[in-house]
Amino acid sequence: MSMHLRARCAFAVVMTIAPLSIGAQATADSTGMVVSRNGLVISSSSIASDVGASILRKGGNAVDAAVATAFALAVTYPGAGNIGGGGFMVIRLKNGTATTIDYRERAPLASTRTMYLDSTGHINRSLTATGYLAPGVPGTVRGLALAHRRFGKLPWRDVVLPAAQLASRGFALDSGLARSLAREVAQAMKSYPASVAAYGKRDGSAWQAGDTLVLADLGRTLNAIATRGADVFYTGWIADSIAADMHRNGGLITKKDLAAYRARERAPIRGRYNGYDIVTMPPPSSGGVAMVEMLNILSHFDLEKQGRWSPETLHLMIEAMRRAYVDRARYLGDPDFVKMPLTRLTSSSYAATLASQIDRTHATSSIELGKDIVTPSSVATESDETTQFSIVDKDGNAVSNTFTLEGGYGSHVVVRGAGFLLNNEMGDFNKKPGDTNAQGDIGTPANLIDPGKRMLSSMTPTIVARNGRLFMVTGSPGGRTIINTVMEVVLNATGFGMNAREAVDAPRLHHQWLPDVATFERDAVADSTVSRLRAMGHTVEQRGRQGDAHTIIFDAKTKTAYGANDRRSSDSKAARP
Ligand code: DON
Repeated sequence: MSMHLRARCAFAVVMTIAPLSIGAQATADSTGMVVSRNGLVISSSSIASDVGASILRKGGNAVDAAVATAFALAVTYPGAGNIGGGGFMVIRLKNGTATTIDYRERAPLASTRTMYLDSTGHINRSLTATGYLAPGVPGTVRGLALAHRRFGKLPWRDVVLPAAQLASRGFALDSGLARSLAREVAQAMKSYPASVAAYGKRDGSAWQAGDTLVLADLGRTLNAIATRGADVFYTGWIADSIAADMHRNGGLITKKDLAAYRARERAPIRGRYNGYDIVTMPPPSSGGVAMVEMLNILSHFDLEKQGRWSPETLHLMIEAMRRAYVDRARYLGDPDFVKMPLTRLTSSSYAATLASQIDRTHATSSIELGKDIVTPSSVATESDETTQFSIVDKDGNAVSNTFTLEGGYGSHVVVRGAGFLLNNEMGDFNKKPGDTNAQGDIGTPANLIDPGKRMLSSMTPTIVARNGRLFMVTGSPGGRTIINTVMEVVLNATGFGMNAREAVDAPRLHHQWLPDVATFERDAVADSTVSRLRAMGHTVEQRGRQGDAHTIIFDAKTKTAYGANDRRSSDSKAARP
């Protein structure tokens, strides 16, 4: 991720853990975790976590709390929380059954495979960065409604209204969000009058910490969703507002696109590592498949004996990452459009073959590994703004949810009269057919743009169980790094016995096949380890922070949840409901 994006990411990830009934001290204990026997909500916004916790207190279950937290994040965490974007939810009920909700955005019906190429055949990245051609058809409202219809206990209205009230009455900006909004309004939003009207300060000055942000149109929109249901967004006046705004400004999304949008309940990807059962997101996210493939490969080696931070273990992790990410590029896309060998990719026999091909002392060439799909080069970029929340209720029902506008504040376009930001998720498609290159651009067929198709994601909301009982809830933002971040947090806990705090704090490594570079978080490993990896043939670089993995580990014996915020991006705060 670029320095610019990293700075933007760092702005307002005010980590909050809202435990229930743990008395006055709703803060992390000496282990750096918040402990609760009555449920736990962890999100990137203290106010949103409080909303989720208050729903648990009213007798709502984890899904009710998830829906309420998500809508609240659309108000209090505008960089990534959203109703104009999409995401994925993994749900595991206390009886052990698990499912996933896919509410990923879809390409508008008028979109084409080459819509982001200029006349010289180069990708015009400004079209997917901001503006009216960048958004996919939003999925969040249908997704949350589907989750609630299937599993919610409290009335829909009760879980949506708190967000509507937050938007209408306003909330106090902390310094991070004030700074971030001031910058966005002055820069990327300034070409969009409705965005400046929604998020600018009325007197035109810059937002300061402590100012109250009132989002009147968003409040009206959320109120309509609360009282009239998701249809008002997809076939009612909100759909009319989106379509009219698109029509006025050369965008593609129509009323037909919105009316046709469906969220999907999909069977999870399942894996097993060291006796733990993993339930994670299937395509159109690549996350679950790639993570299970990596863990399957790693299970062929005795990592514990080698040590978590030994060059040998890190080498094997890089080799597993390289192989899973080349398969991601080769095969994965929207299951409604492409056939994928998912059973094979997540099988232990396939992992055994891949593991046997790893040279224990030499790096594999990524180009060589993917020579069937690699073509000449151009330049690649990556964006990084998304948000993860993890929830457990007192009964042990669990939700892991990752949702996004793609880049921070998405397309920067606020729908006139409806007050919410639209995503810029179309950039997650393969934009140049046939161009898969050393810089990390992918042009393989599975993820090319087609009307109505969902773009491939890396979001990896994940729940882990052991002996049929809930063990862990995790996930992260971070673009293509997400899959590795989540895999490492899971590996730390399930393979190395780390508690939630240790698993989240442990330094992270990323390799995504191409570019053929392993990046470590700053000062993650000793210089001698880096030298050894370089001697094996790896290109090793340092990076800033990777991910923001809000994680809960659940002790099923004592029914106690241990929550760890990711301190990379946040001042840990806890709020009592
Ligand atoms: O779906 C995806 O994989 C990306 N659009 C997610 C973007 C992201 O994580 C940015 N976050 N920090």
